Amino acid sequence: MDLRPRRLRQSSAIRDLVRETNLRVDDLIYPLFVMPGEGIKEEIESLPGVYHFSLDTLLIEVERITKLGIRAVILFGLPEYKDDQGTSAYDESGVVQKAIRTLKEKFPDLYIITDVCLCQYTSHGHCGLIHQGEIINDPTLDVLAKVALSHAKAGADMVAPSDMMDGRVGAIREALDTNGFANIPIMSYAVKYASAFYGPFREAAHSTPSFGDRRTYQMDPANRREAIQEAILDVDEGADILMVKPALAYLDIISDLKKEFPYPIAAYNVSGEYAMVKAAAQKGWLDEKKVVLESLTSMKRAGADLILTYHAADVAEWLKD
Ligand code: PBG
Repeated sequence: MDLRPRRLRQSSAIRDLVRETNLRVDDLIYPLFVMPGEGIKEEIESLPGVYHFSLDTLLIEVERITKLGIRAVILFGLPEYKDDQGTSAYDESGVVQKAIRTLKEKFPDLYIITDVCLCQYTSHGHCGLIHQGEIINDPTLDVLAKVALSHAKAGADMVAPSDMMDGRVGAIREALDTNGFANIPIMSYAVKYASAFYGPFREAAHSTPSFGDRRTYQMDPANRREAIQEAILDVDEGADILMVKPALAYLDIISDLKKEFPYPIAAYNVSGEYAMVKAAAQKGWLDEKKVVLESLTSMKRAGADLILTYHAADVAEWLKD
């Protein structure tokens, strides 16, 4: 018998018929950075095409992306003030809380997810509280729960803890449940590695730690089985969606989680992944559109159901034609 896989590759019609993986705009979550002030739309140097917005310009951007078909966003805040306890993270009139209320008023159908973490709000830039030079776990949980609750009260549809403290999903679940928010899902950054690919984000979010690094709480990139352990804990604590972060260098992890857990899997196509493609494309070394679509498709093929990506608006545009 003559085995010829090329039979099914002869035209776009047949290729489309047998395609195993399809990227859809409905799978995408668009990250947005919001800051205090007015009339601000500042491009982030290492993330071309990504901006810091004040509330007024944010509305214009959301108008644009919703027209493109984007239906979900994740909000990151650059607060008015920072202190060692990260109190601006749960301030009722904080920048994220205000943004949620304003967006919900203008775009009631927009699905608003919030990043729950302290690093943008603490003067030291760590994701947890500090005592004698160490990032202390359990006292941080109360603060994170307050942050998540303040987002839910402002009207967020989903919260996404990214701090990597042990037990945070359980603490947040309990705070939500006991305050009337049992219906708010938690998308846990369950498997978050201590990655150099977050570099541009930290510039964008002004969240580089002032001392040390994040390796005492984020995972060692060399570990695969530990990802399962992290995911088990988060599921036990009440996570609804499990995220793997970064995405491209961790497709094996996405695939593992997809096989092991009957929960939606999210992949975070992080800032450094975006910056690499943008830089090469600006130099004319890569075809941006093709590389982005291929990369995001690979994340879906590996098992991601949802993808958080700074390319979302462009992809929405590309998928139209
Ligand atoms: C906050 C947070 C980070 C990212 C998302 N939430 C940075 C970090 O952990 O240092 C990274 C996102 C990206 O690089 O695109 N903890």
